[in-house]
Amino acid sequence: MLLKSLEVSHVRNLQSLKLLPHSTMNFVVGPNGSGKTSLLEAIYLLASGRSFRTPLARKIISHQQSELTVFGEILDSSGIAHRVGISKGLDGDTLVRIDGVRRERMSDLATLLPAISIDASSFELVDGGPSERRHLLDWGLFHVEHDFLEQWKSYQVAVKQKATLLRTGNDSHIRKQLAHWNEQQAVWGEKIQASRVRYVDALQLALHRTTAHYVGTLPLSLEYRPGWNRATYPSLMECLSANINAELERQACCYGPHKAELLIHWGAGLARDVCSRGQKKLVLYAVRLAQVMTLFEQRKLVPLLLLDDMPAELDDHNLHSIARFLRDYPCQTFITAIHGQALSKALFELFQDHRMFHVEHGQLIQTISA
Ligand SMILES: Nc1ncnc2c1ncn2[C@@H]1O[C@H](COP(=O)(O)OP(=O)(O)OP(=O)(O)O)[C@@H](O)[C@H]1O
Ligand SMILES: [Mg+2]
Repeated sequence: MLLKSLEVSHVRNLQSLKLLPHSTMNFVVGPNGSGKTSLLEAIYLLASGRSFRTPLARKIISHQQSELTVFGEILDSSGIAHRVGISKGLDGDTLVRIDGVRRERMSDLATLLPAISIDASSFELVDGGPSERRHLLDWGLFHVEHDFLEQWKSYQVAVKQKATLLRTGNDSHIRKQLAHWNEQQAVWGEKIQASRVRYVDALQLALHRTTAHYVGTLPLSLEYRPGWNRATYPSLMECLSANINAELERQACCYGPHKAELLIHWGAGLARDVCSRGQKKLVLYAVRLAQVMTLFEQRKLVPLLLLDDMPAELDDHNLHSIARFLRDYPCQTFITAIHGQALSKALFELFQDHRMFHVEHGQLIQTISA
C-alpha cells in the first residue's frame, strides 16, 4: 500500500498543492500556520473520508470556496494502481470515486489506504471517554478480521432498533419486539466481544514487545471491560434478559459492547491520571505502533502513518526508539515539524533516504530528495 501522488485543492490554506511522496519517509517542515497539519488532514481525508480535526466540512474547506477535493494515486497491497478522489461540499456531502466509479461506503477508502494519524486530537485516546478507545479496537479489527464490519453494523442496527423501542413504551407488544432485538444484540454482541478479546490479547503482546524492544520497559498495560458484568452474567443474553425492566425504566440500551471500556494502565494508576504530557504522547505512540505491529504480523499490511509534530514533547531517547521502530516496520510515513533541526538526528541517520517538503503559506516551496 503506497500513496504515489497527491493533489489537494481548497483544504484550509492549501489552495492547490501537488506532491510526489517518498515510499517510506517524508518530512514536512514549515513555520506555524504554514499548512503542515492541513496537509496531513488532506491525506487522512483521502484515506478515511473524514478529518481528524473536525466533523464539520465547512471548517476544512478553504474560506470563500464551496468544495474541497483530494486526489491520489495509490498502489494497493497487491501492487495494483488505483485512482482515488474525494470531494466535500459545504453541506458535508462527500463524493468518493475509486477508479472513476462512485462509492458510497467510506470503508472502501479505509480498505485501500489504511492510515493512522497521531496528532493533537489523538490525546483523546488517553484523556477522552471510552468511545475513543473502542474506536481504536474497532479500527484494528476492521483491518485484521474480514467479517468484523458486518458484525459491527448488525450490532448497531440491533442497538438502534432497541433504543427506539425502549423510548416508545412498555406494553406487551413492545416487550415481544424487545425480546427479538435482545436476541439480535446478544448474537452480534458476543461476536464483537470475542473479536475484541482476541484483538486486545494480540495488542497487549505487541505493546509489550514494542516497548521492550524499542523504548525500554514501560509500566503500561491494557484491560478490556466488556460492557456488562460477566461475573454475574456469563453471557450477554443472560444480562439483557435479566435487565429488561431496568432498560425500559432508563429508556436506553445500557449493556453490551457499545458500553465496553479499554483501560490504559500506567503502573497502579490510569495513564490519563498519572502520566505527564510527554509520557501520554509516548503511550499514544506505543499503543498505535503496537497496532502497526499487529496489522503487519496478522495481515502483512503496513498502514500509512501521519505523525503531526512528532518531535514535540518527546526526548531524544524516545524519538530514537520510535525511529528504530519505523525503520523495522517500513510504513510510508509523513512527519511534520517546525524545521529540519527539530527532527531528531536519529530520524536523519536511520532514514538517509527520505523526501523533505517545505511548506509556507499553504504552498510547497521546495522539495528535496536525499
Ligand atoms: N477553512 C480555512 N480556510 C483557510 N485557511 C484556514 C482554514 N482553516 C484554517 N486555516 C488556516 O490554515 C493555516 C494552516 O493551518 P495548519 O494547522 O495546517 O498549520 P500548521 O503548519 O500545522 O501550523 P502549526 O505549526 O502551528 O501546527 C492556518 O494559518 C490557519 O489559520
Ligand atoms: Mg500543525
